Amino acid sequence: MSMAIVVAFLTSLFFISVSTLGNALSLNYYDQTCPDAELIVSKVVKDETTKDKTVPAALLRMHFHDCFIRGCDASVLLSSKGKNTAEKDGPPNVSLHAFYVIDNAKKEVEALCPGVVSCADILAFAARDAVVISGGPIWDVPKGRKDGRTSKASETIQMPAPTFNISQLQQSFSQRGLSMEDLVALSGGHTLGFSHCSSFQNRIHNFNSKHDIDPSMAPSFAGRLKSICPVNSQAKNAGTTMDPSSTTFDNTYYKLILQGKSLFSSDQALLTSPTTKTLVSKFATSKEAFSNAFVKSMIKMSSITGGQEVRKNCRVVN
Ligand code: HEM
Ligand SMILES: *[C@@H]1O[C@H](CO)[C@@H](O)[C@H](O)[C@H]1NC(C)=O
Ligand SMILES: *[C@@H]1O[C@H](CO)[C@@H](O)[C@H](O)[C@H]1NC(C)=O
Repeated sequence: MSMAIVVAFLTSLFFISVSTLGNALSLNYYDQTCPDAELIVSKVVKDETTKDKTVPAALLRMHFHDCFIRGCDASVLLSSKGKNTAEKDGPPNVSLHAFYVIDNAKKEVEALCPGVVSCADILAFAARDAVVISGGPIWDVPKGRKDGRTSKASETIQMPAPTFNISQLQQSFSQRGLSMEDLVALSGGHTLGFSHCSSFQNRIHNFNSKHDIDPSMAPSFAGRLKSICPVNSQAKNAGTTMDPSSTTFDNTYYKLILQGKSLFSSDQALLTSPTTKTLVSKFATSKEAFSNAFVKSMIKMSSITGGQEVRKNCRVVN
């Protein structure tokens, strides 16, 4: 065999193994290159949460949005540029906020180990920290995500909508390798945060030709939502917390679904298939069962990869 063929062969083997490695996340990814990265991110998340209690919910949702479009590649963090409108300026962006927290964490991590830790990993750490800070479970985040170079507002149409029924939710999750159990467990993220009226408007006014209000909703709850969100309200910031303990990561969300007091059609839809209904009951009864399932599903969701580089600034490609 000529040398050239041997070299070509070895080179191709090298690239196959590198590209395989590039996709595999690991727990010790930064042990040699930036061992303090996670600690720095945790500290920034903690400090910013002290100043603004809405930060944890924002970070958890941001990571979910990141992972569902092009994989967890920090595409959600890119700013619009020139003619390109980025994801964060797309239609379902209404509750995406606290991007500055990721910027601050990135700045501190870059000061210590420049060019090493991806924005996608920083966001995955921050989402985990958000859960921990709110009293939820703790887990080790697999690392080694790369940042993507593309972010398009038009692709945010691929996000599941709050009006989705169970088959639409199932399809949206299975397209990303996520199961019905993942769907029920991850929807538990709705134990944190806030929703604007527009996200549940469909259920409280003109629901369908027969009912003004979604009949699966508890009437007292629907009445309360109607008073917060009147028909032709111009109040852009009106809305309500996802559950009464909206800064505590607990299993109240599932108890509320069983009482007809969940906000979105997509939450209530979890009672419309036997598999998901059984899981809702299980998580409503046991915070521990919920926590264990949530951790498992978060690791699965946050392992959907997609990027190529380690961005220097999370808002712009290198
Ligand atoms: C199952 C499909 C899902 C749908 C249809 C959905 C939909 C929504 C909607 C419409 C809002 C309110 C936006 C607004 O009006 O401001 C929201 C908020 C939120 N979602 Fe989801 N979501 C889903 C899954 C998830 C997952 C998987 C997570 C995380 C594990 C998550 C975490 C959150 C959080 C934390 C908030 C509150 C955000 C804040 O207060 O800033 N959601 N979601
Ligand atoms: C959401 O998108 C609108 C344009 O569709 C934009 O004006 C607004 O700044 C965006 N919000 C965030 C938080 O980026
Ligand atoms: C869910 O909605 C889709 C689209 O509107 C519809 O085709 C489907 O039959 C619905 N499925 C259920 C279970 O209601």
